[in-house]
Amino acid sequence: MNTPLKHLAVVGAGGMGSGIAALFAARGAQVVLIDPVDGALDRARASIARQLGVYAAGGEGEAMARIRMSPDLDAAAECDLVIEAVPENLELKRGIFAKLDAICAPGAIFATNTSGLSINALASAVTRRERFVGTHFFTPADVIPLVEVVRNDDTSEATVAAVMDALRAVGKRPVLVRRDIPGFIANRIQHALAREAISLLEKGVASAEDIDEVVKWSLGIRLALSGPLEQRDMNGIDVHHAIASYLYQDLENRQEPSELLRGKVERGELGAKSGQGFYAWSPERRERVLREKSEALAELAAWLERKAGGG
Ligand SMILES: NC(=O)c1ccc[n+]([C@@H]2O[C@H](COP(=O)([O-])OP(=O)(O)OC[C@H]3O[C@@H](n4cnc5c(N)ncnc54)[C@H](O)[C@@H]3O)[C@@H](O)[C@H]2O)c1
Repeated sequence: MNTPLKHLAVVGAGGMGSGIAALFAARGAQVVLIDPVDGALDRARASIARQLGVYAAGGEGEAMARIRMSPDLDAAAECDLVIEAVPENLELKRGIFAKLDAICAPGAIFATNTSGLSINALASAVTRRERFVGTHFFTPADVIPLVEVVRNDDTSEATVAAVMDALRAVGKRPVLVRRDIPGFIANRIQHALAREAISLLEKGVASAEDIDEVVKWSLGIRLALSGPLEQRDMNGIDVHHAIASYLYQDLENRQEPSELLRGKVERGELGAKSGQGFYAWSPERRERVLREKSEALAELAAWLERKAGGG
C-alpha cells in the first residue's frame, strides 16, 4: 500500500465497520476491528468472509489474516488511522473518541463514518481537532467507490491529504466536502429523492415497485454516468429552468418525516432487516438480494472505472 497510514483500527464491527475492515485488509493494510458487543465480532467475521469472497477472489485467506479482532478499545493504541463506525449517536461517538484520544499516539488521525452528524461536534471531543475528519463511506463499504471526506473547522491540509491518499491507496474515489454541512452532499441528495418517492407512494401515484422501476431504469442508469449538474448541461439549462419554474412549487418539501414513514417505524416495519418495509423480505430473500446486489455493484463499479480510465 502506497500510504504511510498502514495500521488501521476500525471501531464498530457492524455492516459498515466490517466492510471498511475487509476493504483495507484486502489491499494489504493491517487492521484491528474493535467491538465490545456480545456476538458482534463473530457476525463480522462471517460477513467479512462473504465480502472478501466477492472481490478478493483467491486472496481471502491472506486478507482475513491481516484482520485482528478485539473487544477492547486499547487495541487501537498502535494505529496511524482510526475509523469509527459505531451507531449514529452523538454522545456514544464523542465518548469513544475522547477515550481514543487518551489511548492513541498524538500523531494518529481520527475519522468518523457518521452519516451526517456534525463533524465539528464530534471533533470537539478530542484535543487533536486538526487530525480529525469525516470519512463517509457508502454501503456496501467495500464495493461503492466514493468516500466523502469532510473537514471540521480545524482540520489541517496535511490530514486531508493523508486521508485522501490512504483512501486512494485502497481504490476509493475520495471527494472533499469543504464545509461541515448536515448530510454532507450525497445524503442531502439521497433524502431529497427519497422524500419525493415516499410522497408519490403516499399520494397513490404508483406502486413502490413501479416508482423504483421508473427511477432505476431512467434516472438511475443515467446517473451512473453523468451527475445531476452535468446532466442539466446536456439537457439544456434553459429547458431545466422552464420546467423548474412550474414544477418546484409542486414538489414535496415537508420539514418532518412523513406519516407513512412514522407509521412503519412504529409498527416495526423497518425494511429488509425486519422482514417488512416497502416490500416483504424473507431471511433467504434478504441474504440472496444482499449478495447479488453486492456482486452486481462490484461488477458495475469495475466497468465504470474502466470507462473512466478510458480502458
Ligand atoms: N448503514 C449504512 O448504510 C451507512 C452508510 C454510511 C454511514 N453509516 C454510518 O456508519 C455508522 C455505523 O453504521 P452501521 O450501519 O454499520 O451500524 P450497525 O448497527 O450495523 O453497526 C454498529 C456496530 O457498532 C457496535 N458498537 C455498539 N457500541 C459500541 C461501542 N461502544 N464500541 C464499539 N462498537 C460498538 C455494534 O455492536 C455494531 O456492531 C453509523 O454512524 C451510520 O450512520 C451507515
